Amino acid sequence: MKSSWVAGLAMAIAVSGAAAQPAPAWMDQTLSADARADLVQAQMNQDDELLLVKGYFGADTRQSWIKPPPAEYRSLLPGTAGFVPGIPRLGIPALHESDAGVGIANSPWLRPGDTATAYPSGIANAATWNPQIAYNTGVGIGTEAHDRGFNVMLDGGIDLAREPRNGRTFEYAGEDPLLAGIMVGAQIRGIESQHVISTIKHYALNDQEGGRTQVSVEIDEAAARESDLLAFEIAIERGSPGAVMCSYNLVGGIYACENDLLLNRILKHDWGYAGFVLSDWGAVHSTVAAANGGLDQESASGFDRQEYFGAPLKQALAAGTVAPARLHDMVHRILRAMFANGLMDFPAVPQTAPTHADVAQAIAEEAIVLLKNDGQVLPLASGARKIALIGGHANLGMISGGGSSQVSPIGFDDDHAILRGGGVIVLPNGAKIMPMGREIFDPPSPVSAIAAIAPQARVTYADGTDPVAAAALAAQSDIAIVFAQQWMTEGADVPNLKLPGRQDDLIAAVAAANPHTIVVLETGGPVLMPWLDKVPAVLETWYGGSGGAAALARILFGQVDPSGRLPITFPQSEAQLPQRNPMGGPAGTFRIAYSEGSDVGYRWFDTRKLTPLFPFGFGLSYTSFGIAGFTATGGDNIAATATVTNTGDRAGSEVVQLYVTPPGEPARLVGWSKIELAPGESRTVQIAAEPRLLARFEAQVQLWRVPRGPYAVSLRRSATDVIASTFVDVTGGTMKP
Ligand code: BGC
Repeated sequence: MKSSWVAGLAMAIAVSGAAAQPAPAWMDQTLSADARADLVQAQMNQDDELLLVKGYFGADTRQSWIKPPPAEYRSLLPGTAGFVPGIPRLGIPALHESDAGVGIANSPWLRPGDTATAYPSGIANAATWNPQIAYNTGVGIGTEAHDRGFNVMLDGGIDLAREPRNGRTFEYAGEDPLLAGIMVGAQIRGIESQHVISTIKHYALNDQEGGRTQVSVEIDEAAARESDLLAFEIAIERGSPGAVMCSYNLVGGIYACENDLLLNRILKHDWGYAGFVLSDWGAVHSTVAAANGGLDQESASGFDRQEYFGAPLKQALAAGTVAPARLHDMVHRILRAMFANGLMDFPAVPQTAPTHADVAQAIAEEAIVLLKNDGQVLPLASGARKIALIGGHANLGMISGGGSSQVSPIGFDDDHAILRGGGVIVLPNGAKIMPMGREIFDPPSPVSAIAAIAPQARVTYADGTDPVAAAALAAQSDIAIVFAQQWMTEGADVPNLKLPGRQDDLIAAVAAANPHTIVVLETGGPVLMPWLDKVPAVLETWYGGSGGAAALARILFGQVDPSGRLPITFPQSEAQLPQRNPMGGPAGTFRIAYSEGSDVGYRWFDTRKLTPLFPFGFGLSYTSFGIAGFTATGGDNIAATATVTNTGDRAGSEVVQLYVTPPGEPARLVGWSKIELAPGESRTVQIAAEPRLLARFEAQVQLWRVPRGPYAVSLRRSATDVIASTFVDVTGGTMKP
């Protein structure tokens, strides 16, 4: 399959560069992407245009329930999530779309044997609070895509974590619009630096997997603009993604992929978005409403209940229910994104793709959050002799999340996959699938990484299925490390935030047997910790990816200072979360009212005066920091400065977080600075507030309004740990959306 796809691509490139003819005018790189799109579009007839607005699944699906792509394309499909034919006559390459939330995705049946770097999960990326790290992830993913011949990444997951039980919490960037927007924007920029389009998703308010194609989210426009949409807005400004993926759900009773308010008014008009909107797989429900509502490309049309953008769109154009100018606009947006990202100038041609375990490790080293440390155990002394590792398949690798983002990681074979019942997805065409039935463990294993870093130690492993045997092993060891996991997958929410199975009992049993018990959490998001008081140390590694085990080993032994901070609140119980309506049944739409409005995550905890288990922004270090000389200024915007000193005896990084409390509102993160300091070193940081976080959106007048007045400004170590605070006067005013 692969060789004919490569031959097909080579032919398209050869045709595009055909013989000694002068390069067509649209290949002039000095022209703008818009001008180049206009020039090539002038050569296209309506059938050419229609070709670019309808996609297919990127693999031959004759063996599955998905309608297979037409025969003429089957040899061109490398085995990805999506394919849109090109126009060789004009040198327009086909689009090869791959998922890439945590690396180049590959459900093993799509491209057998094609392994790639598994990067830490999206939430891990956010936990670094380091945009440079997110950018580096993007560069790694972009390179690995380009060298496979893939030119569109379905990566840029940013739905806010309103509901931590959402099965895709691991793919996203946490609960705060500023943190998520900056981190995801940086990753998108990294991907697109490699001449690959990136796709921010899922627009919008796609915050749970249960009934994801049926749920209608009810939220007022202002609250949406101040929360979930703000995350998209910031990421789009910073990352300039070529594509936006509209989501499965409905918003205010209207499917997101035909939602005029979301697509035409907010995204394209207010934010001036010039790229194209592609649909999630199976998220289109109409031709005329979708085309006029702002959808530019029907993805993998075989997933939809019926075809919408092929012949039916042609009929709608003939009938005048969709204007030719709308089709022209759809195609212009697609071509513009292709030119802007260099798809024609630097075509993606399959070659040996590199891997980036070192980049993945660097991310994991900054993503791991030290949640508890009584100072008696961590960092481990290099002389530790007997170390017992328990549970979590720590002999295989680091657990990863399931679903379309699943990577076949470097070193993968069937021994690294464990069968597991995943979620059932009911597709718009009525088919039910359970494609995520395997837990995949990214090698190398923690057992091998810890044995490698501590050659003097005897490292033993017990799988933890027998808590008594595990406790006995722990009792004979100097140190016990329990690996506790929560597997999450697209297609199913987790039923609660408890560690699955009997892991809580296992931890309690091991902790009772050995006071030097460390818990390593490998979770998609927050979990409950009934044993917290009984253990001296807890680390959250999220889904660590190909570099996760080495990063963990280095942090355990103090070669790296933990510098991750929580991008999401860890509640004490599910009762602290905003209560959701029960999920709907198998048929028909159901409504979920977002009663918390824009007060997502820590803002909800603040308004309800709830004390979380661990607050947003929290994370410990092996060193200590002093923060002095805090001053803040007001006027048109708020800015702050402070001097941070590493007062400990080892190097480390502090994340200085700036929060503002607008009058009558909960505090909001408005900026931060992560700085690395040698022992004794001091540095002054300056942080300017993101002005939209001082504002409220007024839907009646369609403006952001910053009320005049005194604002409390505080430097914090987390959402609840205030280091210093003051008041400043803000002039106030309005801003256009
Ligand atoms: C997911 C998208 C993904 C697409 C293609 C859908 O089920 O929601 O995130 O990009 O499949 O694999």
